[in-house]
Amino acid sequence: MKVLSVVGARPQFVKEFALTRALRDDHEEVLLHTGQHYDAELSAVFFDELGIPEPDYQLGVGSDTHGRQTAECIVGIEEAIESESPDCVLVYGDTNSTLGAAIAASKSSPDLVHVESGLRSYDREMPEEVNRVLTDHVADVLLAPSDRAAETLREEGIPDERVHVVGDVQYDAILAAREHARNASTVLDDMGLSPGEFVLATVHRPRNTDDPDRLTAILDALASADREVVLPVHPRTEQRLRDDGRWKEYAERLRLVDPVGYLDFVRLLDAAARVATDSGGVQKEAFFLDTFCLTLREETEWVETVECGWNALVGADPDRIATGLTAPEPDGSKPSLYGDGTAATRIVDVLEDRSTPEQADPNP
Ligand code: UD1
Ligand code: UDP
Repeated sequence: MKVLSVVGARPQFVKEFALTRALRDDHEEVLLHTGQHYDAELSAVFFDELGIPEPDYQLGVGSDTHGRQTAECIVGIEEAIESESPDCVLVYGDTNSTLGAAIAASKSSPDLVHVESGLRSYDREMPEEVNRVLTDHVADVLLAPSDRAAETLREEGIPDERVHVVGDVQYDAILAAREHARNASTVLDDMGLSPGEFVLATVHRPRNTDDPDRLTAILDALASADREVVLPVHPRTEQRLRDDGRWKEYAERLRLVDPVGYLDFVRLLDAAARVATDSGGVQKEAFFLDTFCLTLREETEWVETVECGWNALVGADPDRIATGLTAPEPDGSKPSLYGDGTAATRIVDVLEDRSTPEQADPNP
């Protein structure tokens, strides 16, 4: 089986890390990097540190409007499909790179395989929600991280035989990286941080970064925390703060640092007293690492983490953020929500079954 895997943005490199070894054991993988993320700290660091194979294709689409960025992905991925003739095109999550690949693959012969299928925030103003819905509805193989995600797909009319519950590849990645991060990462020492004594934060959703009132409300609330707040700043967020002339002020009130590599991030998340984030992936990773999460959004596609008490939706509300920063952690056992850490091998099994369908018994 020949698989063309498409990545382009930070969370997709982590997901690719989880899957690539299982895939390459017995199959050919061609890796395409769209170039949606290109700064070393958002891209190269993941390939270097996690041993992700060098991409076979680099489209270099860079930053642009949604239309131009997605269009360049479509053109480049279509060309790669034509030259490689893969059996399937595998896409992760919900970025513009995902959508570009979905459109290119769905208009050509290989199967489109969507990892992290069936997630919904039900907020169509989020570009990611549009990307997910469109990708799911043209995919041939929909790989859901949970029963709930699979149920959502069924409710949307997607035939059962296309949907497979495999668990979450980011859980596989965390299991592979947690111990290694504890042993190898020096980030706590380097930053002078003690476990349990700081809050980790990330903010990058346009709804938060592009609305100055929301961004200010969030950062002011974090700056009022009774412990140090470490915030690895996404370039989108840094740009907005610099444009508004607020960077210097917040750099004095918060620990603003460059984005960190995955192992350092996992170590920080593992050791933090709390995490406050609008990231999708970080909400799940916090759950896997037993760190209570405040989600700086009004809704989430990872609803199970909220229902079991390990995630609180606090939006940009200063009072809810303040309460969440000091609330006790939930007690009692944690449910297993997103599989058992073997999503990668399950995905390969699904693809193998599909590429070698059972022969009909000639002598029934
Ligand atoms: C994208 C995804 C989002 C995902 C996030 C992961 C879409 C619509 N959004 O958001 O779902 O959660 O990646 O981090 O696909 N920039 C740089 N250097 C880079 C990349 C970007 O400086 O290497 C800056 C540019 O100014 C760019 C801005 O960040 O305009 C936003 O980048 P973009 O990839 O468009 O969206 P993200 O906010 O990163
Ligand atoms: N991450 C990282 N360094 C950082 C911030 C995040 O390695 O400074 C990792 C994090 O562990 C997770 C992924 O990047 O695996 C999440 O990416 P992001 O929040 O950008 O995107 P989302 O998940 O919201 O799409």
